[in-house]
Amino acid sequence: MTPNDPSGFNTRGGRLYAENVALADIAAAHGTPCFVYSKAALIAAYTGFDTAFAAHPHLVCYAVKANPNLAILNLFARLGGGFDIVSGGELARVIAAGGDPHKVVFSGVGKKAQEIRDALSAGILCFNVESPSELERIDQIAAEMGKVAPVSLRVNPDVDAKTHPYIATGLKESKFGVAHGDALALYRRARTLKHLRIDGIDCHIGSQLTETAPFSAAVERVMSLVEQLGADGIALTHIDVGGGLGIQYKTEEHPCRVDEYAAAILAGVKGRTEKLVFEPGRFLVGNAGVLLTRVEYLKRTADRNFAVVDAAMNDLMRPALYDAWHDVLPVDTAHAATGTLEPWDVVGPVCESGDFLARGRKLALKEGDLLAIRSAGAYGMSMSSNYNTRPRAAEVMVDGARMHVIRQRENVAALFAGEAILP
Ligand code: LLP
Repeated sequence: MTPNDPSGFNTRGGRLYAENVALADIAAAHGTPCFVYSKAALIAAYTGFDTAFAAHPHLVCYAVKANPNLAILNLFARLGGGFDIVSGGELARVIAAGGDPHKVVFSGVGKKAQEIRDALSAGILCFNVESPSELERIDQIAAEMGKVAPVSLRVNPDVDAKTHPYIATGLKESKFGVAHGDALALYRRARTLKHLRIDGIDCHIGSQLTETAPFSAAVERVMSLVEQLGADGIALTHIDVGGGLGIQYKTEEHPCRVDEYAAAILAGVKGRTEKLVFEPGRFLVGNAGVLLTRVEYLKRTADRNFAVVDAAMNDLMRPALYDAWHDVLPVDTAHAATGTLEPWDVVGPVCESGDFLARGRKLALKEGDLLAIRSAGAYGMSMSSNYNTRPRAAEVMVDGARMHVIRQRENVAALFAGEAILP
């Protein structure tokens, strides 16, 4: 990382910093494990995305699931952003963070009646409908409430996103969306329902896409439907192309840049005037955060060297779940530069062999060292759990020379406060 790394993290005088705060100072003040975010990096990612689409009317709806901390939602709301939510809980967070419900799109295959009611009361921008049954349910609830629900159909374009199978969503065997071939009939059905207003069309083919071709293919399939709908007298006000833009996890990887992504999407909608809606998650937060952890023990066995750290799969599940690769950086870079490099498996204290954060990394380590697990801003804290009765980590946001605790470390008593022993 260079001093000007847009990720907000940099090395100075043999120490790793988040903006102008040394990570070692954050660990001393707030303990480990701890997620650390750079406000400047969050802003840079948001404005980079937003600016790339300046040529076309658009709305950036941050996918809350990537990182739902109120401070992050508030930051994007202040930059003019909207939100893509997938639960009533996420809607409550958006409202608590000062987000505008009129800029919220609601995705997901399993919206419950109460969640639909709450979203209608809040006045969200649009429901991204994922099945015929959901369409009927939304109409019925809107009728009961004397409202008209804005809807968009999530179309499954049957495009291979070329990403990890667990995070690919646009193939026909996926549970998401309505098949491309069934969409026209469902739009015609929606047109007959009095408490629905057809506003848009939506697709989302997967996450951590590193090439533009699958995006182009999806937009082409969606635009062919937009034209058929137009011929049928169904005019749309927006086209939602979902999220999915990948980030760089490894130095040697070169995922497509945001301007290349924008060029591909804009070429696909050339000549159209409908507003574009985007649902980026990972791109806006992924590289703006690290997971700060301390080495508890160094353990050498006949086969491997284990660095047992105080963060685990419950804090960052991605390596265990997807075999995901996250860069591991020593916080004391001066020692790391002079010590002897050895291969280490960076593992947590959880009782599972799948509990690793990284494997076979060349590092110069001693017990007590601090490590920064990079690219942990997206799907880190949001997928964390209390497995092994481990309190969730603290979250800190750095803004220039200041650090702010944006979520306190959980305490153990709170973890079982809702439980009861039989009388
Ligand atoms: N829109 C919808 C409807 C989605 O399902 C998702 C992500 C997004 C937008 C945002 O996608 P993004 O821009 O972040 O790629 N836990 C996995 C990623 C799961 C993504 C789920 N849906 C991971 O850690 O890689």
